[in-house]
Amino acid sequence: MIRAVWVGLIFILAGCGEQSKSVSKDAPDFGIEPGELKSGYAFISKDSQALQNDDFGNPGFLWVEKGAQLFGTSGCLDCHKSEDFSGPVSAFPKRHKATGALINLQGQINYCRSERLGAAPYAYESEAMLGLVSFLKNQGAGRQLNYDISPDLQPHFNAGKDYFYQRRGQLNLSCAQCHDDNWGTKMRGDTISQGHINGFPTFRNDWQTLGSAHRRFQACNAGVRAQQSELGSQVYLQLEVYLKARGAGLKNETPSIRR
Ligand code: HEC
Ligand code: HEC
Repeated sequence: MIRAVWVGLIFILAGCGEQSKSVSKDAPDFGIEPGELKSGYAFISKDSQALQNDDFGNPGFLWVEKGAQLFGTSGCLDCHKSEDFSGPVSAFPKRHKATGALINLQGQINYCRSERLGAAPYAYESEAMLGLVSFLKNQGAGRQLNYDISPDLQPHFNAGKDYFYQRRGQLNLSCAQCHDDNWGTKMRGDTISQGHINGFPTFRNDWQTLGSAHRRFQACNAGVRAQQSELGSQVYLQLEVYLKARGAGLKNETPSIRR
């Protein structure tokens, strides 16, 4: 079923390469006009939208609750009060001051775990990690996401942008060919969105669980039969920087529902 959808997409996209609007990586701005910026929410069914809007029915809130519980019981409160994290959390991915490394929220959580609590880092897609990330990001839900590319982030932004425009895989398609040039294209009840990350972690019905943006990158890499990178890898962190800047202005929807 999933394979059939992807193969179908390829037929549609195969003819689109030459006349596409914005495949050049040197394009001055993003491949989406500011006035056309749309969350993935705009492309899901009315039922899924209703579920996302319902804090009691939205299964993503099970993880938000688990995360809140963990935050309160696993040592985080030794240093962090039950403060509002929405500001600091919206600055990720960023360069970590002490190490200079590019880290996302998952990286920060594991840094605090291993360096400060002497505990084993959480696996990227573990319930604990997804829970903490969902809990922390959900504190800013409904607010507009802003993200500045500071000079120390610029090289990472550039690398993420390059990745976004590179064709890859046996199907030889770039992220941009689907998410800049063909968003809104219908395919057997699936609609290609603009590929934003404002709702992650997201509950996908076809995953039957919550998943991170990096898991989604892997799925899209697999879709064009390209090599997948590791969850948390540098290249996916850089892609996250680019996509976060590309989607600035959208609302934080964590935890979102997607098809
Ligand atoms: C052949 C078309 C295609 C290509 C190429 C592709 N994607 Fe996707 N992508 C999809 C489809 C289909 C979905 C699921 C429907 C949706 O949410 O857009 C999706 C979903 C996503 C989402 C989730 C959007 C949301 O609101 O939840 C992100 C983020 C994303 N893609 C990023 C990427 C990135 C980064 C690349 C390049 C590494 C890429 N995609 C390459 C088709 C593609
Ligand atoms: C011993 C003190 C300590 C503990 C325990 C600790 N942290 Fe931190 N945390 C810090 C410090 C200091 C920073 C500032 C950035 C840095 O130096 O890494 C920070 C930064 C953060 C940030 C980024 C927000 C900001 O204000 O910079 C998050 C999110 C975070 N920690 C989550 C956690 C979680 C989740 C836990 C529990 C698993 C935890 N921390 C445990 C000290 C701690």
